[in-house]
Amino acid sequence: MGLEFIYINGQTPLDEEEKEDLKIKTISTRGELDEFEQANIEKAIEWTLKINPTYDKILSVAFIKEVHKRMFSEVWGWAGTFRKTNKNIGIDKYQIEIELTALMADCKFWIENKIFAEDEIAIRFKHRLVKIHPFTNGNGRHSRLCADILISKGLKGKVFTWGSQNITEKGVTRSKYLNAIYEADKENIIPLLDFART
Ligand SMILES: Nc1ncnc2c1ncn2[C@@H]1O[C@H](COP(=O)(O)OP(=O)(O)O)[C@@H](O)[C@H]1O
Ligand SMILES: [Mg+2]
Repeated sequence: MGLEFIYINGQTPLDEEEKEDLKIKTISTRGELDEFEQANIEKAIEWTLKINPTYDKILSVAFIKEVHKRMFSEVWGWAGTFRKTNKNIGIDKYQIEIELTALMADCKFWIENKIFAEDEIAIRFKHRLVKIHPFTNGNGRHSRLCADILISKGLKGKVFTWGSQNITEKGVTRSKYLNAIYEADKENIIPLLDFART
């Protein structure tokens, strides 16, 4: 279908097969794609405001998939299903469910034993979730919304501000965000923790 996407730093490219799974065939530019995705995500956010899941419910494979599905199902056929190809970011596709299950068990342990402060639990969860990279695309946005649901509903805190600027577009705030992610990759979670409350 000849779509020309320009990928900004830290974004996962889509392969041809994945592009074919675009539900809205009239989308022809990256800007249009962003707009349709954003409209879909806004509906997902509305849904999160109406629900009241416990942390136990949030930390389940079914819930993690449902969030992705609600964010992207109007745009992508693969919304809510784990990726079937390997990417430049993320673990091997066959390890996704195993690693996710381990992450959620760790997270419940941190909560129940107060291993870290609540913000830190949600941010560590977000970072490992995006490292696993369960889905074909949308993993950054999905991991942030999941962290917001965990902190606000599961742990009764306040949603994060994530730099208070658009971080899906290239710019200073996105650079700060990515640098914080790279620090977290090196076991230093503090910059991401600070960024999330900036
Ligand atoms: N080295 C990295 N370690 C962890 N996460 C990363 C790294 N590089 C990029 N990311 C995350 O992956 C996201 C890009 O994945 P992608 O599936 O394209 O999500 P989205 O479409 O929401 O941007 C980035 O926004 C960032 O959150
Ligand atoms: Mg992307």
